[in-house]
Amino acid sequence: MRAIVAFDSIYGNTRKVAETIVVELIANRHKATLVSVRERQDVPDADILFIGSPTRLGRMTGRTRRFITRMDEEAWKGTTVVPFDTFIRSPDQLAMIPLMGMNTKGAAPRLAEMLRSKGMDVKEPLRVGVEGRKGPLATDYKKIVKTYLNSIL
Ligand SMILES: Cc1cc2nc3c(=O)[nH]c(=O)nc-3n(C[C@H](O)[C@H](O)[C@H](O)COP(=O)(O)O)c2cc1C
Repeated sequence: MRAIVAFDSIYGNTRKVAETIVVELIANRHKATLVSVRERQDVPDADILFIGSPTRLGRMTGRTRRFITRMDEEAWKGTTVVPFDTFIRSPDQLAMIPLMGMNTKGAAPRLAEMLRSKGMDVKEPLRVGVEGRKGPLATDYKKIVKTYLNSIL
């Protein structure tokens, strides 16, 4: 299977999740390419697409949104896609972020909605917690990614 793992990341945590997905896919003998939405806007051909963003004020980043908006809807219709994000799991930490009245749904559930509206076959979101406002990732993040991939591959 050929996979594209597209991501945005500000502090590097979502990048690490994306890199872990790539490593795990390759370990399972799939082809996987990492694509930063900061560096390229096109989406190379693939059988499965992973798209990830940090959760910022309950949403995905603008760059991630634009990356999806530019995708050719007709070409990608029916393709399997996995939305993923990083977010703060701890309610105490989350309370420290001024959410400005925005709903705290998170990047991956919003990605799922957006991709579904494009007619893609959207899997359950993969969500990985961070310990603080800028990270680091939860210590068990590799296990979370592995368990998730085992459940869908
Ligand atoms: C301005 C700002 C807003 C944030 N908003 C949220 C939020 O609404 N919900 C949440 O769970 N985490 C929030 N976070 C924590 C981010 O999810 C965390 O920085 C992100 O997972 C780090 O990913 P990155 O290293 O790939 O940028 C916020 C962080 C910042 C700096």
